[in-house]
Amino acid sequence: MNFGILDIAGIGAVALLIAAAVLLPMVHVELGPSGRLAGKGRWLLAMALGMGVLAFAFKLAAIVSISTLPQVIIAPLLRGASQALPESAAIGADQFNVLTAAAQPAYVWEALPLSAPYPADNPTTPEKVALGERLFHDKALSRDRKLACASCHDVQRGAGTDRRATSLGIDGQVGSRNAPTVWNAAFQSVLFWDGRAPSLEEQAKGPPVNPAEMGMPSLDAVARRVADDPSYRAPFARAFGPGTAITIERIAAAIAAYERTLITPDAPYDRFVRGDATALSAAQLRGMALFQSTGCIGCHSGPNFSGASLFDPTAPLRVFPANATAFDARYGLTRDSGLAPAGSGRGIWRVPSLRNVALTAPYFHNGSVDDLAEAVRIMASAQVGRRTRDDPDPGRYVVWSPPERVLSSVDRSALTDQQVDDIVAFLRSLSSATLAAARQPGA
Ligand code: HEC
Ligand code: HEC
Repeated sequence: MNFGILDIAGIGAVALLIAAAVLLPMVHVELGPSGRLAGKGRWLLAMALGMGVLAFAFKLAAIVSISTLPQVIIAPLLRGASQALPESAAIGADQFNVLTAAAQPAYVWEALPLSAPYPADNPTTPEKVALGERLFHDKALSRDRKLACASCHDVQRGAGTDRRATSLGIDGQVGSRNAPTVWNAAFQSVLFWDGRAPSLEEQAKGPPVNPAEMGMPSLDAVARRVADDPSYRAPFARAFGPGTAITIERIAAAIAAYERTLITPDAPYDRFVRGDATALSAAQLRGMALFQSTGCIGCHSGPNFSGASLFDPTAPLRVFPANATAFDARYGLTRDSGLAPAGSGRGIWRVPSLRNVALTAPYFHNGSVDDLAEAVRIMASAQVGRRTRDDPDPGRYVVWSPPERVLSSVDRSALTDQQVDDIVAFLRSLSSATLAAARQPGA
């Protein structure tokens, strides 16, 4: 129930009418004659008693209105009486921002754990890891015995990639997607650019039978290839127990166990977070702050720098490019749309880890960008709506979202070249020291 000013006046008027209707006859018929009052005296008595009724009517109206009016109207009327409110009224816009910023939980930077977790049914053992490493490098897993997993994921010299824009499969077939690094894939909640594989075990069964990759006719054929090689019997017995059959499930389990050892907790960033304040340069620290303030952590979050990691897989898939930019046409970023409907002009992709990103060029699902600074400019422009020096100003600073009826202002200011360089410097701090030393430049 909401009372307006008219309702309050109404209550008062009704009370007055009732008072008049009761008082006047009472004074004229009862009190006047029994008090022996003449005409003038009777009117005076009626007015005296009427004042009381009038005051009561006003009080009633006031009580009803205070208890039913919305809080926004009542609060300012009460403010003068309160001790706490004058202080908050004195807080300016700047202080208010500080207060709300402090109220948000601070982003906590984390180092990579020293070992990767494993599923209950596939514990990581040294025997399994040794077997998996051999299988990963065995060309017998491809139809023409010319391709191993390591052909496209050169573990040491390629930092886990083939350093090509898109991979070369069996019979020289050119693939359509870039080979991501296998390093730290153990920490990802979903695998592949579009996140279609739920585990390393499932993922490992894909490439051998992919006609454009290793080209085997069936998973059984892969298991037979391995079983036909007598030198595999002892390693399988050591890894899975004496007399166990060589199956595709065990092949995949061993490869996955090996991949869980391909982790890089030895980056300068990790040393910094673990307590070595000298591990990052001034530029890298500026870049770290920009990585946070520009909003990169919104998607590349947690110790593996991916919202698709086992640490907090709440938003593994994201729209990319979220904003249409001139980069789309320049690098063909929307030709392949991942999980989004074909031709929708956008894609839906798994958020990749940024660990060792400085060692794994070229970038993006189609491997179309060679330069890390350019990849950062594309992200800033396409994902967080910031302009870069190459980007025309679209002049869209305020966004109205009709369904939610929400008005938000967007910071479209351009990232300077210096800021882009600082972010790149920070991304370099995510490179493993040993991998950086092992890597060979060029393809
Ligand atoms: C012909 C090249 C090629 C071969 C051979 C190959 N891969 Fe890949 N690998 C790729 C490409 C390309 C992708 C990305 C495909 C996609 O996302 O659609 C990929 C993705 C992966 C991923 C996912 C990484 C991530 O971050 O999502 C893993 C893990 C992986 N491969 C492991 C293997 C294993 C194990 C083998 C051998 C059984 C293998 N690959 C054989 C090219 C290859
Ligand atoms: C809204 C989510 C989102 C935000 C915010 C975001 N990214 Fe990304 N990032 C992605 C996705 C999704 C991809 C994969 C795009 C693709 O399909 O190629 C990606 C890819 C990348 C790559 C290429 C990785 C590779 O291995 O090819 C880099 C580098 C990168 N992001 C850096 C950044 C930086 C720096 C920022 C902040 C300026 C940022 N990202 C902000 C979602 C995001």
